[in-house]
Amino acid sequence: MTFIPAKWPRKLRSQEWYGGNSRDTIYHRGWIKNQGHPDDLFDGRPVIGIMNTWSDLTPCNGHLRELAEKVKAGVWEAGGFPVEVPVFSASENTFRPTAMMYRNLAALATEEQMRGQPIDGAVLLVGCDKTTPSLLMAAASTDLPSIVVTGGPMLNGYFRGERIGSGTHLWKFSEAVKAGDMTQEEFLEAETSMSRSSGTCNTMGTASTMASMAEALGMALSGNAAIPAVDSRRRVMAQLSGRRIVQMVKDDLKPSDVMTKPAFENAIRTNGAIGGSTNAVIHLLAVAGRVGVDLTLDDWDRCGRDVATIVNLMPSGDYLMEEFFYAGGLPVVLKRLGEAGHLHKDALTVSGETIWDEVQGVQNWNEDVIRPVDNPLTPQGGIAVLRGNLAPDGAVLKPSAASEHLLKHRGRAVVFEDIDDYKARIADEALDIDETCIMVLKNCGPKGYPGMAEVGNMGLPPKVLKKGITDMVRISDARMSGTAYGTVVLHTAPEAAAGGTLAVVENGDMIELDVEARRLHLDISDDELASRLASWTPSHEQRESGYEWLHQSHVMGADTGADLDFLKGCRGSPVGKDSH
Ligand code: FES
Repeated sequence: MTFIPAKWPRKLRSQEWYGGNSRDTIYHRGWIKNQGHPDDLFDGRPVIGIMNTWSDLTPCNGHLRELAEKVKAGVWEAGGFPVEVPVFSASENTFRPTAMMYRNLAALATEEQMRGQPIDGAVLLVGCDKTTPSLLMAAASTDLPSIVVTGGPMLNGYFRGERIGSGTHLWKFSEAVKAGDMTQEEFLEAETSMSRSSGTCNTMGTASTMASMAEALGMALSGNAAIPAVDSRRRVMAQLSGRRIVQMVKDDLKPSDVMTKPAFENAIRTNGAIGGSTNAVIHLLAVAGRVGVDLTLDDWDRCGRDVATIVNLMPSGDYLMEEFFYAGGLPVVLKRLGEAGHLHKDALTVSGETIWDEVQGVQNWNEDVIRPVDNPLTPQGGIAVLRGNLAPDGAVLKPSAASEHLLKHRGRAVVFEDIDDYKARIADEALDIDETCIMVLKNCGPKGYPGMAEVGNMGLPPKVLKKGITDMVRISDARMSGTAYGTVVLHTAPEAAAGGTLAVVENGDMIELDVEARRLHLDISDDELASRLASWTPSHEQRESGYEWLHQSHVMGADTGADLDFLKGCRGSPVGKDSH
């Protein structure tokens, strides 16, 4: 990509607030001077908003205020004026009904904070799952120069000598307790071993995946994704990013220059190579929708299909983010993709260099953590996009997290109308279910839950677990935690609450899954399906007011990224009228 930097010096948007000597200017400038800023800070230098998703209730981002200080140092060094701006922080492990419902609200709020205030460029200080896509969406919609700095992953967890991964082992241990293989006391003992430092989940869960997506898109400096949260190099990365954003503003290097279709294709292939979270599908579709790139579910299948998973990290593999960093991190993966012909090498990054310039000289320090392409963890590591009468608009499955013997399966549906129905009946010994059945969960999509909860990897019935069975085919319109695994069909669209076929699946129906053929079929006649759909009425709870109402009324399907319909697109950063 040929990028031609803008001329410098020139008048920046922040000067609409701080430049000149009018009454309005003094109103804006005079008040902020109460923080002790000298006159020359308002001389036209770039004002950099450090959009900080720190919150005590977002523990994965709990260290971002310290990191913001390093970003500020970098901005000062490069001649900019840093301002730290707290933004909506959607914590994965705290928000109810689900952080996903607030991703769009966070994106909306951050977008308006960037546009409505005297900011020339932004450092997106993110970490926990939704914080990264929400701020990328905001940056895409304003198209102000922006750079991502993630908080970095936690150090490895260990329990009784065994390496344990955030989330991944929580699911494993809770199933072990249900199966009688682990005591409740042992389960509680494991809790404290899991999160032993600041940072995000240490598996290749959604947070690490989205950090990798930001880097593969070119929106973060090379090497950002894997540096542990507590490593001194994380702070160096923050400082260097602070320096870099000042030059990006001077050059007018914008998200739309970086997040092009080739950049998204690089990210999709990277997701396959790292064995990344299915949540990346929804988030990248939403970010693309904001920046005006025509990205579809079919691009996910097309681009990811021939990409082998070479990163041996949980939940699919053995290691954790700390080892990924020691092995060389994402630049090694990007180099491998480039060597295999799977990378648009000329995609521009926030450094001003191409992605290939950034990674071609790196070295792999551990070939068991980042495997050679001819000895992958999974030969086909992409996201499979399934279609058929059960998912006319698509559904997704992560083959690398699924069981080989279930990738082609025909089974009897056992239906749960919603998550409460599932919880009420799953442990019932009288439930008519065995390991050959297909578990179907409805009303957990963007409208139905509302917010599309991470419940798609619903636990197996205890009576099946006790037989030593650890996986069954599960189908829903929900999402799945990036730390989870199993033969789990997700994001089924249209969702049940929108009247998709999923809504009319009945107990005893036969369902066919064929991942190789990308097929998901409800085995009833077309006439029967039409008749059931004609008599269907919604059963999910419809909210009457507040943000939940706004979300339910305007959220789009998972197949297009589950953004709110009125937020799609890039609105730029026009400077509004002054009100004084
Ligand atoms: Fe926040 Fe995993 S729950 S990063």
